[in-house]
Amino acid sequence: MTDDVLRQAPLFNGLDDDASGALESSMSTVTLRRGEVLFGEGDEGDQLYVVIDGKIKLGRRSVDGRENLIAILGPGQMFGELSFFDPGPRSATATAVTDVELRSLGHSALNPVLQSHPDVAYALLNQLAGRLRRTNEVVGDLVFSDVPGRVSKALLDLAARFGREADDGIHVNHDLTQEELAQLVGASRETVNKALADFASRGWLRLEPRSVIILDLERLKRRSR
Ligand code: CMP
Repeated sequence: MTDDVLRQAPLFNGLDDDASGALESSMSTVTLRRGEVLFGEGDEGDQLYVVIDGKIKLGRRSVDGRENLIAILGPGQMFGELSFFDPGPRSATATAVTDVELRSLGHSALNPVLQSHPDVAYALLNQLAGRLRRTNEVVGDLVFSDVPGRVSKALLDLAARFGREADDGIHVNHDLTQEELAQLVGASRETVNKALADFASRGWLRLEPRSVIILDLERLKRRSR
């Protein structure tokens, strides 16, 4: 099970069983309790990580203390590679949203893998390009979209990764507080709460603590455009 999740990561793209096994044996296990900080923005870092279980939030803080969430990562997703490709301090703070299990790999162990396996380099480039594409979209939405539009888009993204289909709708256990949801869409908690309450009153979704049940996917999709 752990192996399956680990091998979904781009790091293992195109590696045969022997190479995968060798890479895996050079990784270490890291566990975090909910709320624990793995590293802070600006720290020196020489490891990258794959999420095995749980969720990690990546965030940045403004000088006046406000927080913005860049991404929520779940099982099979990787982070901590930017400071390898663009040597410098960590570009964001990584915090456990739930209890979390990770595998870490030293940046120095990545070099030989990239030299000997171009598929892995390609997969990491693919991930970087995808993140750049998503970041462009987020920046565009901050300028062009209203808060309800951004909330519906964030919910759809969380649903695509953490959603589970059930008879009554798509159960999305995002594990985020309303404050964290607000930080993810770059708006105040009050405005985000208002948008969520409006969606609930229209019957598009049902709100539960740290999760949401999407009842009308189509309407939510339309609102996100
Ligand atoms: P690093 O800078 O080493 O530490 C923080 C990590 O957050 C970074 O590597 C990336 O893995 C991740 N990260 C930074 N910016 C983004 C982004 N826009 N989208 C997804 N992940 C990101």
